[in-house]
Amino acid sequence: MSRAEPMSTGEPMSTAADGFHRLYGSPPEGVWAAPGRVNLIGEHTDYNDGFALPFALPHRTEVAAARRPDRTLRIHSAGFPSGVVTLDLEGAGGLDPARPPRGPHGWAAYPAAVAWALLDAGLPLGGADLHIRSDVPTGAGLSSSAALEVATALALTDLYAVPLARPDLAALARRAENAYVGVPCGVMDQMASACATAGHALHLDTRTLEQRHIPFDCAAAGLRLLVIDTRVQHALGDGAYAERLASCHGAAAALGLPALRDLPYEELEQALARLDDPVRRRRVRHVVTENERVVRVEELLRAGRLRETGPLLTEGHASLRDDYEVSCPELDLAVSTAEAAGAYGARMTGGGFGGSALALIDADGEAAVTRAVTEAFAAAGFEPPRVTSAAPAAGAARIL
Ligand code: GLA
Repeated sequence: MSRAEPMSTGEPMSTAADGFHRLYGSPPEGVWAAPGRVNLIGEHTDYNDGFALPFALPHRTEVAAARRPDRTLRIHSAGFPSGVVTLDLEGAGGLDPARPPRGPHGWAAYPAAVAWALLDAGLPLGGADLHIRSDVPTGAGLSSSAALEVATALALTDLYAVPLARPDLAALARRAENAYVGVPCGVMDQMASACATAGHALHLDTRTLEQRHIPFDCAAAGLRLLVIDTRVQHALGDGAYAERLASCHGAAAALGLPALRDLPYEELEQALARLDDPVRRRRVRHVVTENERVVRVEELLRAGRLRETGPLLTEGHASLRDDYEVSCPELDLAVSTAEAAGAYGARMTGGGFGGSALALIDADGEAAVTRAVTEAFAAAGFEPPRVTSAAPAAGAARIL
């Protein structure tokens, strides 16, 4: 299935608990929230055991929840008037751990998938009522799916006092999406949503799930990060993502490596000479150079040299466009226009094939860059982009 399923809602964010109360007739036991993410650098590295440097958005998905005395899971989304989806945790009509790809489709597949993954991991989960609301833009490459998964996982594990470290929770959420929803994503989005902290980018080692919180304060450096949503809906389930993943895993096997992460940057050229297929060579070059860019961007952030990350962002975009071939005309136009309008660097963010680009600009440059990109899109006959600025926000938490 595609991740372009809409999941956002219209109600103001403060009413998740009220919405629950109205729907189920009593207040929730708590409300849990998890954010969407922007990836600063490190794209298509996570399923190669590589590095990534995402940060959390202020946009988040809230899950108001309460336990039930039976083994029933009731799920409702404020964004969908379709009503309450009811699942039996015992299997039969819903969540059979032996047969993951069953159960509801559309938005409800994500919370159902999380419940399945938690049960399948042997965690003692009981029934629950859930009411979901979200302001994470959907289909924009900003991880609305991961936000929903992580908020649900946090709500269910907290309700049932199941101790689960955040990286383990993120890994289970990823497994839910891989095995139940059928999207073969890596773990970056779930880790960003579960583990990010305000004011920091999250350096992730996607092999070990080790993390480092790197101070990332654009405002203090007189800078701003723009997020340019091209409005081209991206879908990871359409085969192109899975094809990239298979190509990388095939190349690693051909090189006798557990994963492309194990190919050092210094040995890239020799390794490329050993691969016959030109497409595979390009995919490998992207992954290995991208891992190196993550290392260099982290060093620059630590040194407080934020502006100097710009050229690495732009280089990353060129690599995704030319070697990895996951960009699209709208993303390329957003990036080139932002640069021409004064951005220090710009790149697509997320899986690609649509979704959003980011641009690092001077704090006083937002109006000019926004205007330039909007005009360029109009001239090209593209839908108007949605341009916002983003600062690193907090990761998932219980908020009530
Ligand atoms: C999507 C996937 C992530 C990652 C990115 C590309 O967001 O969910 O796991 O692979 O694409 O970096």
